[in-house]
Amino acid sequence: MNCLSSKRILLGITGGIAAYKAAELVRRLRERGAEVRVVMTEAAQAFITPLTLQALSGQRVHTDLLDADAEAAMGHIELARWADAVLVAPATADFLARLAQGRADDLLATLCLATRVPLAVAPAMNQAMWTNPATRDNLALLARRGVQVWGPAEGAQACGETGPGRLLEPEVLLERLDGLFAGGALAGKRVLITAGPTREAIDPVRFLSNRSSGKMGYALAAAAVEAGAEVILVSGPVALDCPPGVTLLRAEDALTMYALVQERAPLADIFIATAAVADYRPRQVATAKIKKDAATTLTLELERNPDILAAVAALPGAPFCVGFAAETDDLAAHARKKRLAKGLDLVAANWVGAPGQGFDSDDNALELFWEGGQESLPEAPKTRLARELIGIIARLYQEKYPQGTPQDLHAQDSA
Ligand code: CTP
Repeated sequence: MNCLSSKRILLGITGGIAAYKAAELVRRLRERGAEVRVVMTEAAQAFITPLTLQALSGQRVHTDLLDADAEAAMGHIELARWADAVLVAPATADFLARLAQGRADDLLATLCLATRVPLAVAPAMNQAMWTNPATRDNLALLARRGVQVWGPAEGAQACGETGPGRLLEPEVLLERLDGLFAGGALAGKRVLITAGPTREAIDPVRFLSNRSSGKMGYALAAAAVEAGAEVILVSGPVALDCPPGVTLLRAEDALTMYALVQERAPLADIFIATAAVADYRPRQVATAKIKKDAATTLTLELERNPDILAAVAALPGAPFCVGFAAETDDLAAHARKKRLAKGLDLVAANWVGAPGQGFDSDDNALELFWEGGQESLPEAPKTRLARELIGIIARLYQEKYPQGTPQDLHAQDSA
């Protein structure tokens, strides 16, 4: 899909090492037929020259708020009005803080304050700066005001550390911008999904796990991107490729998955829990391989893992929560009970053991239950089922939040 043709993209670049990736983004945007104008902060110019961006965008790069010549050519308000969308990539911690404060102390911050078109930021910074509560609070505030937060990705960082804080790749940013104009059922929404099994370590070579393939969760992630959403997929170990446009975070065990989800959930509009999380983990993980001895039995003491889905549903300003239930009997009664017990908006239940469905299969069938409604999605490939389910989730979300987001409503309630 290319919805970027003839679109006017204002790209803001702030001062981080990832600024060099903005050059590739400009090139790709122009390949897709977009018009691009670049605004750089002073710090950005220490990482990449305006001349590079000028050559790639085919337009003069804007750097100064108080430059009479530049203002005469296209003033800052005119520039803010010119754009169909504004993207700041990379967005540093400092820029996000200034944006959250509503400062107008340089050209880019002023433009962001003056613009009425969709505004997205793609953060990039050291992982400790990203996880700092000051940055988290700034991000939550911006998200509440409707600023779209794209990324960051996880991985090795230029500073030598590893963790969240890498700028999303240009091709992913391109898809997000495309999605912004695609006007899909979930355009501009942030969707968080868990998928796959978890592995609970017994010793360095053994673990407890289950038979989840992750196919349903991955299909839902792809369908949500198609519908225009920004998608974060927190996945246990599976043999699947990450769908294009999805931010993938890997979690080996339930506690890691829980921590990753807790961190991301406050910014999510919709949470879909498809992961088959192990209910229990060994109380003690042996540091050395457990050797068999003469005894014919081995006893492992297990302790309960946190319920990731129930914990998200209990958050103040919780996202729209969707749970999955696998049942062997009395499906409707169990599914309805689970929905109420965990405080969910929607439960998607399937029969365990139905031939050709569930676990590792490519097909499935689902029974959906929500407050005051239910619907059957008959057996179909998981990819098709995922599209249908995303359509229903989008409709129910829209009915529940005709205006604003879960976070907005919570902020109004607690004001
Ligand atoms: N879930 C979760 N964290 C857990 C356990 C489950 O997020 N620790 C989520 C699953 O992703 C799924 C739903 O909760 O969306 C499943 O609920 P659960 O009560 O665990 O269902 P079953 O495993 O079918 O439970 P039971 O053994 O009670 O039938």
